[in-house]
Amino acid sequence: MDIERRLKGFPRESLALLPTPVHRLDRLSEALRADIWIIRDDMTGIGLGGNKVRKLEFLLADARRRGCDVVLTAGANQSNHCRLTAACCARLGVDVRLVLGGNKPEAPSGNLLLDRLFGAGIRHVNSKDWSVWTRRMEDEAEAMRRRGRKPYVVPIGGSTPLGALGYAAAAAEYGRSFAKAGIKPQAIYLAASSAGTQGGLLAGMLAMGWGMPVVGIGVAKDEKRLKREVAEIARGACELLGASPRNVEAAVHVDANYIGRGYAVRTPECEKAVNLLARMEGLPLDYVYTGKAMAGLIDHIRTGRIRRNAPVVFLHTGGSVELFE
Ligand SMILES: Cc1ncc(COP(=O)(O)O)c(C=O)c1O
Repeated sequence: MDIERRLKGFPRESLALLPTPVHRLDRLSEALRADIWIIRDDMTGIGLGGNKVRKLEFLLADARRRGCDVVLTAGANQSNHCRLTAACCARLGVDVRLVLGGNKPEAPSGNLLLDRLFGAGIRHVNSKDWSVWTRRMEDEAEAMRRRGRKPYVVPIGGSTPLGALGYAAAAAEYGRSFAKAGIKPQAIYLAASSAGTQGGLLAGMLAMGWGMPVVGIGVAKDEKRLKREVAEIARGACELLGASPRNVEAAVHVDANYIGRGYAVRTPECEKAVNLLARMEGLPLDYVYTGKAMAGLIDHIRTGRIRRNAPVVFLHTGGSVELFE
């Protein structure tokens, strides 16, 4: 299926600098005796970049089409998604309100500092529970409606089938970048949390009839839940594209063995991966998402789950603003 033709049927804001670069990690490849490449979605341009921009191109276009005058979203205090929603709304001249899980710190840093800089209104909620954040955001949206405003609610991580179309579009873009680089990757690895990035990428691959595995290294949820959510989003995005692939579940590859004690809790393997990439490639990762995903990829190479003589691609989804927290 020509998914790019189908995608033209959806409103889309141009927010990201595309295509993102794809290049080989020479020193890391040599050290691990493998052929490791990277997609630089940490360089999507706006708001210091990251994966969420691709989803926001579709979500914020939908908000505009519906005539909404304020965007609400939620996440942790150091949410990359919230930072990028704030930056994209600034670009579009739309009000933005963030519900952030965690106490208000005395001095904002990292993503929180940028949220303020981009002009977002912020409410802190003292809870780590995603459902509490969502409820608070919906309450705020309801209060705004009563005051005559038209809010648009972006769920945590922007992970809806519509948002995931950003990554279905990315699948086609990556295909062109791989052809240009002269590689046929055996798999793409990435960090998976709210499942929209992996779900969208998988939907794009399935709709185009590609069999390349997309491997999500879980950083937040148990494997069963993550697998279910990736499949749900992939199915929803396929439906929007008018594709009906058989057995989406069988195409979902996730590994949640690198989370450690929980979301945003560092593991020794993650710290090693962050140090390795910094010192061998001059490339900052982060300790919440990409560090754990890279730890997973390194372990899969070391344990023979990835062939050393064929290219494997790591999708850098951004997040290194966390280093300045
Ligand atoms: C830097 C980074 N990488 C990966 C992810 C995971 O993407 P998703 O939530 O679509 O699974 C996130 C989500 O917050 C992120 O901020």
